[in-house]
Amino acid sequence: MMKVCVFGASGYTGASIYQLLKDKHDIEVVGTFLREPTMFDDLYKLDINQPESFSDFFKKAQPDVVVWSVMSGPNEHELVDQGLMHLITHLTPQTKLVYISSDFVFAEGKGPYNEDHPMSKLPDDHLLANYANAKVKAERFITKELTNYAILRAGPIYGENKIGKLDERTDKLAYHLRSDKRIAFRDDLIRTFVYVDDLANVVVELVQNDVTGVYHVGPNKSQSFYEFMRQKAEEFGYDMNLVEKESEEEVVNQEVPKNTSLDTKKITEITKQKFS
Ligand SMILES: NC(=O)c1ccc[n+]([C@@H]2O[C@H](COP(=O)([O-])OP(=O)(O)OC[C@H]3O[C@@H](n4cnc5c(N)ncnc54)[C@H](OP(=O)(O)O)[C@@H]3O)[C@@H](O)[C@H]2O)c1
Repeated sequence: MMKVCVFGASGYTGASIYQLLKDKHDIEVVGTFLREPTMFDDLYKLDINQPESFSDFFKKAQPDVVVWSVMSGPNEHELVDQGLMHLITHLTPQTKLVYISSDFVFAEGKGPYNEDHPMSKLPDDHLLANYANAKVKAERFITKELTNYAILRAGPIYGENKIGKLDERTDKLAYHLRSDKRIAFRDDLIRTFVYVDDLANVVVELVQNDVTGVYHVGPNKSQSFYEFMRQKAEEFGYDMNLVEKESEEEVVNQEVPKNTSLDTKKITEITKQKFS
């Protein structure tokens, strides 16, 4: 039986991936959490950055495929320099790594981007540099050290996941709209928004097949946060006019990458998944 390990199974995306894999009768799945095991009572507590406990866990688990759905915002660099590095030293060429990356590897923000475009970093003192630049570093590390990997780049991930949890952004939207409060989003930040379970389905497919490489995951469509949130407000049955345009004034050197939308043609050629 194939054995799969999901790092970050307590997280928003990881929970959907973990649940989908648990539903497969020919797959044995183990998942990890760090602080909160959420809805699952069978996850292993593991700090991926601790070499001894990581090594103990990994030797016991002996997975055929590893899914990386871990994120730590301001400490993302630690996750790469420690967690990902430990993982890579434990992987054999037979073990596949499915790594979830981000559209923020294109920090220049001049999208749309396809998989052949070079990655770009943010200045080190930028507010988002730790996360964005760590993702670039992680990808470079993986492509240099491994051959059996799939890197899946995603824009903002949204929607209710398999355990009924909404992403933070639409949760905030729904909270405001429910109480008839106005809420503003930027109209100049363009993204490829991807529904959480569409992404999770693609991960599960790639766990089961031998496709490798770098893929942009999501629909063939880009929207600004403002457009996306107005659409969601309408879908939720609220007054979409409560969603307003946010001011675009920014502090110099803290500008958020403008257009990190992704050309997703390549993934549509290898997956059964239809994107919402
Ligand atoms: N959310 C988005 O819009 C978005 C967009 C593009 C790409 N991504 C990528 O998608 C993946 C999943 O993101 P997400 O939004 O689902 O993240 P999330 O909800 O914040 O979950 C992060 C997970 O990482 C675990 N974790 C954090 N630090 C850890 C450590 N030191 N050792 C072990 N586990 C640790 C957390 O465990 P606890 O919860 O138990 O602490 C949690 O399970 C990440 O690779 C992220 O970069 C996300």
